[in-house]
Amino acid sequence: MLDLAQLKTDLDKDGVVVISGFFDQQTIENIHLAAKRIFQIQFDHLGIEGDFLTQMTTLFQNHLSTFTSCGKLIQTGLVELYQLSVDPELVQLVKGLGLSSPLMCTRPVLFFNHPDLAMSEHFYKTPLHQDWVSMLSSQDSIVIWFPLIDLTLGHGPVIFYPGSHKLGPLTDKLENGFAEVPFDRSAYPSLQPEVNVGDIVIFSTLLVHESGVITNNEIRWSSHLRYTNMEDPDFIERGFPSPYINKPSQELIDHYLQKK
Ligand SMILES: [Fe+2]
Repeated sequence: MLDLAQLKTDLDKDGVVVISGFFDQQTIENIHLAAKRIFQIQFDHLGIEGDFLTQMTTLFQNHLSTFTSCGKLIQTGLVELYQLSVDPELVQLVKGLGLSSPLMCTRPVLFFNHPDLAMSEHFYKTPLHQDWVSMLSSQDSIVIWFPLIDLTLGHGPVIFYPGSHKLGPLTDKLENGFAEVPFDRSAYPSLQPEVNVGDIVIFSTLLVHESGVITNNEIRWSSHLRYTNMEDPDFIERGFPSPYINKPSQELIDHYLQKK
């Protein structure tokens, strides 16, 4: 049984808590398989062979538009991930941590990060940042981050800076979608948990964090779910701001309809 009161105390104090074995491992592995399956359909269609990383690299190098579309669909549209994000036990946990009326203020997101599958570093290694600035969500809003594979330090799991959430927002600027923040790493302890399939990390959206460094040449598969609290007085007072934009791309429509 989870000690919710203790978890809430720790989350308030540190801005981050780790819960081992929260999800059923098979459920998480099924999300990973479903994500890989989307790419596999295109590998089969295009006759791309080799191990999975080789296939991914080939698709990225030779069929960038298809790679990007696979990525976009996987990152935000897997039904298995949506199902997980409204899992009753998870919603109960979120409520137990004080979000009395939780709402998902961004879509569930799945990441597959590797230096060879990105145009530039910020696509696989996020800088020091706070999620809150891009969300403007409730003061008690949280991110639930979890791996789709067992993560070792070689996968470069997220590095958190416990206590930094109490600093409040450290910037008002977004760059490449991230609110990079000025932050002295030496002023705070760091936490880089080697989490396994089924484990979750819950952190305040105000907590400063960054990607670790991938040193094992493997894809880092992870996911996050974000919840805001519709009964937070400050969020109510600010009028429930919602800065995310989701709209169709004219560029992609032109690509497919005018340049066949
Ligand atoms: Fe983040």
